[in-house]
Amino acid sequence: MIWHKQWIFGNWKMNGNLADNAVLLQQLAKINHDHALVGIATPFPYLSQAVDLLKNSQIIVGSQDCSSFAEKGAYTGEVSATMIKNCGAKFVLIGHSERRTYFNEQNQILRKKIDNALACDLIPILCVGETLEQRQARQETAVVGKQLTVLQGLSVNHIAVAYEPVWAIGTGEVATATQIEHMHAFIHREILSILGENVTIRTLYGGSVNANNAADILSIDKVNGALVGGASLKADAFSAIIANAQTE
Ligand code: 13P
Repeated sequence: MIWHKQWIFGNWKMNGNLADNAVLLQQLAKINHDHALVGIATPFPYLSQAVDLLKNSQIIVGSQDCSSFAEKGAYTGEVSATMIKNCGAKFVLIGHSERRTYFNEQNQILRKKIDNALACDLIPILCVGETLEQRQARQETAVVGKQLTVLQGLSVNHIAVAYEPVWAIGTGEVATATQIEHMHAFIHREILSILGENVTIRTLYGGSVNANNAADILSIDKVNGALVGGASLKADAFSAIIANAQTE
């Protein structure tokens, strides 16, 4: 039952090429990860390659974004949730901080993306997190709370959210255990109040997770997994993180 395991998901971001991907995917396919749900979010052009090379494994494939447009049609450059599903993907990251920063994605657009993902049975993983300035101004719960309001009115039994403090992404600076525990508890409470007490929640931590810190991070209360950037591009590092997933 995937909603009761820890999730170890890789986000390749804009990295990879067919030849290197093939090597990495073949290595990943050999990892034993019965205790955890493992997923990788590839760039759009590599979805089918990843689905194909992982078809004999339990690893699921997803995309890093989807269009806010629901229907097919004249939206040059867009990739719909339906197309992503059609390639064999199972999940989609929504609202990653890099999308919020470089493409100014905000709740109104993000809600459409979540709706589109759910409509074709893709699992949306909503990414939230505060910037360094916001944390220094002690606004982290206000900022993340506002980002979570995008979930209001959704009719779901399960929801996955990744808490990725922007200042910890790609910097080597990990949030402290206290900071992570506090924010994950906050996110759980907010989700229960928005979606109701019966919703099943996965909250993943993201931001400079690596083979050395994964065990500590994954044992923090209400950390239900990790969303891994840089370290997911190396089979050894990603496999070591997966090995540290806890059985819940
Ligand atoms: P890093 O693990 O490279 O810090 O990236 C985290 C991230 O943004 C995953 O979505």
